[in-house]
Amino acid sequence: MSFDIDAFIRGMPKAELHLHIEGTLEPEMMMGLAKRNGVSLPYQNVEEIRKAYQFGSLQDFLDLYYAGMSVLKTERDFFDLTYAYLTRMHQEHTRHVEIFFDPQGHTERGVAFDTVLDGISSALEKAQIEFGITSRLIMCFLRHLSEDSAFETFDHACRCKSRIFGIGLDSSEKGHPPSKFSRVYKAAREAGFYPVAHAGEEGPPSYVCEALDDLKVKRIDHGNRALENPALVKRIADEKIPLTICPLSNKRLQVCPDLTQHPLRKMLDADLIVTINSDDPSYFGGYLTDNFLAIAGALSLDRKAVETLGRNAFIASFLSAQDKQKALEDFDSYVKGLG
Ligand code: HPA
Ligand code: ZN
Repeated sequence: MSFDIDAFIRGMPKAELHLHIEGTLEPEMMMGLAKRNGVSLPYQNVEEIRKAYQFGSLQDFLDLYYAGMSVLKTERDFFDLTYAYLTRMHQEHTRHVEIFFDPQGHTERGVAFDTVLDGISSALEKAQIEFGITSRLIMCFLRHLSEDSAFETFDHACRCKSRIFGIGLDSSEKGHPPSKFSRVYKAAREAGFYPVAHAGEEGPPSYVCEALDDLKVKRIDHGNRALENPALVKRIADEKIPLTICPLSNKRLQVCPDLTQHPLRKMLDADLIVTINSDDPSYFGGYLTDNFLAIAGALSLDRKAVETLGRNAFIASFLSAQDKQKALEDFDSYVKGLG
């Protein structure tokens, strides 16, 4: 019997490193929270919400993403959102998650920073106890907002240092280069936060260079357009900077509309530490397993390539050295058929 790669993917122990918790808001929950909180939505039902998810660009998506957030108001809302995602991850054999959140998307509309953080972190704690899922929380700055606003948000993170592991940069990329945030990243690094940033999703390869040189990131989120610059590809390989690739996001945001043309294989061939992630699964049509299945199918990836991608997620994670070693041992016993 031939090897069943889909079954192998489904059962594989996984880690997710690029996931916006606000992007897990399913239409059903959006309707439910709108009702619970008395928020009016421009949609009558779940089908209408789903129909609206046709994106020509990153900005088209972001407009809907920020509008969707309007239903999230209380600590319980943030708990429910996060716990629903983690329950799903448990069903998908996900052992470790590194989750982005966008506090400015909430503080700008009057929801307190602590309300957001308290809700998300209690769900993370519960999932660790119930499911054994480990996690790291990464606070993103919205790059279309000012440096001052980023510094204000950073002050909150310093107050809550024990619960926030890293800082990231997301939202509208074009016209908002990483260098706009050099100073706040420097302050955050000095305070002990791990830096990552979205770069090279829609923005040019020079933004990836800036993320490395000016922000001194430890991982690049997306990074697809780095491939346009061979010297940069070599640098990313030499410096072992992982890339968090999001296939269904790339497809839906027209970064790579046809997954059979996705540059993932080129990235693997160039010895880049690439990982598979879901980005905003509710908006892009699939969670972590769906992303693995979609890209493995489109590129006819063999078992070895899937293993590399699966293992890379643990290697590229911010787990402690000891936890990473244990996670990799578990991964290897699954691969050897013992798991
Ligand atoms: N890119 C930039 N900003 C985002 C994304 C993304 O894919 N998802 C949520 N915010
Ligand atoms: Zn993202």
